[in-house]
Amino acid sequence: MASSTSQFEQYNTKEIQQKDKDHFMHPWQIFDLFREDGALPIARGEGCYIWDTDGNKYFDAVGGLWCNNIGLGRKDMAEAIARQAYQLSYASPFTDLTNAPAALLCHKLAELAPGNLNHVMLSCGGSTAIDSAYRLIHFYQNCRGKRDKKQIISRINSYHGSTFIAMSIGGKPGDRSSLFDYEDKAIHHISCPDYYHGAEDGMSEADYLEMLLKEFEDKIIELGGEDKVSAYFAEPVMGAGGVIVPPEGYNKRMWEICQKYDILYVSDEVVTAFGRLGHWFASKDVFDVQPDIITSAKGLTSGYLPLGATIFSDDIFDVINEKDQGRCFTQGYTYSGHPVACAAALKNIEILEQENIFDNVNEVGPYFRQQLETLLDLPIVGQVRGSKFMMCVEFVADKESKALFDESLDIGKHIANHADVKGLIVRPLVHLNVMSPPLIMTKEDVDFVVATLRECILETMQDLHREGHYEDQFTDYLLRKEA
Ligand SMILES: Cc1ncc(COP(=O)(O)O)c(C=O)c1O
Repeated sequence: MASSTSQFEQYNTKEIQQKDKDHFMHPWQIFDLFREDGALPIARGEGCYIWDTDGNKYFDAVGGLWCNNIGLGRKDMAEAIARQAYQLSYASPFTDLTNAPAALLCHKLAELAPGNLNHVMLSCGGSTAIDSAYRLIHFYQNCRGKRDKKQIISRINSYHGSTFIAMSIGGKPGDRSSLFDYEDKAIHHISCPDYYHGAEDGMSEADYLEMLLKEFEDKIIELGGEDKVSAYFAEPVMGAGGVIVPPEGYNKRMWEICQKYDILYVSDEVVTAFGRLGHWFASKDVFDVQPDIITSAKGLTSGYLPLGATIFSDDIFDVINEKDQGRCFTQGYTYSGHPVACAAALKNIEILEQENIFDNVNEVGPYFRQQLETLLDLPIVGQVRGSKFMMCVEFVADKESKALFDESLDIGKHIANHADVKGLIVRPLVHLNVMSPPLIMTKEDVDFVVATLRECILETMQDLHREGHYEDQFTDYLLRKEA
């Protein structure tokens, strides 16, 4: 159990917020908002709950940032980390040195990953796992003498991290600030497989799927086919791009097209691995895809320490490892194979295994979905989608036309703000509320999340009505509710 006393207890909320405002440049900082509002300091976590520095308690339905799989504040994890820090807090991983936690972790990942993915590059998180995959692909194609085979295909709305290349591979329009630069000569984006918004009126899911497959194959041919296209990057279920579960058969058929054109399939499982969809990895077990490379992070340590892994096939390794070529793989980090982070990952995997946590995901996951779907009777809930412990509710101004709310209303944030007050954290993403709870969430927790969300959605409808927005749509519903 996490200690309720902190070594930073002498600082009050105001002091922390001021130092934070003055010096901590946050990821995705919205400057004008942050200057005014600052950030909420979190002091403590236990299981699915977090407490802020004023002692307010929240159920964290976002699991940190899709990363808290086993729950916060576990004593056995803290002890495993402390033991390793005391024993060996750092060892260089470069060329001729290694350490037991790194070697054992890579062995374990090779065992858990599907097929012949038996080789692992360790890094500091998901973005660096993607970056490493990208560099590995260059190295591999160059070793094969295929120096022109460098074009990459990914999808609109995908998220793959925020290094220069990871962000260039990603395709979320909202993340593509024009004030940053991107690699746009070698990276190309095709449609996001979103049947709800992407299919034309009356189009069947099967026809929509065929359209997506054709678009992919057309793009490969347009770029020069097998000689030019090197790799395809895809999340099995898109996370930050809006929890998009693709049409049935999509991942497998995209993989088959990759096989046809000798294109490496990179499955970005930074979110979906380590149980979020009920398996170690979703690619093979859920979607019947055998990737050439899997990237993972987050649930690998359940967020206790930063770590990323790029797991790749014997086929790639055999090419780059060819004898007597005098090659050196000049890629890696000071912290590739950090012993303490690797010990945390090993302990995390042991806990997931020994406590059968995936059974909970497979049992509570369908209940979570079923209960969230009860919200569909509300006039602004357009769709509930996702899989197992990766879910999202989409809000629409008009169910019939699926028209979205005016972005300036920031509907997802509006609802999430009401939820904060009631002790529930959900992740607002423009017109969505996204949830990726710890894998230990119970059915009782689900009942709390869904009942609280219902209250917050109703309160938001009342706010909008009071402020004169979308009056026609909500008046009848709110009057009926009051009657
Ligand atoms: C699918 C996916 N890939 C990569 C990343 C980047 O991971 P990190 O933030 O650990 O660098 C994320 C982060 O959310 C992600 O969702």
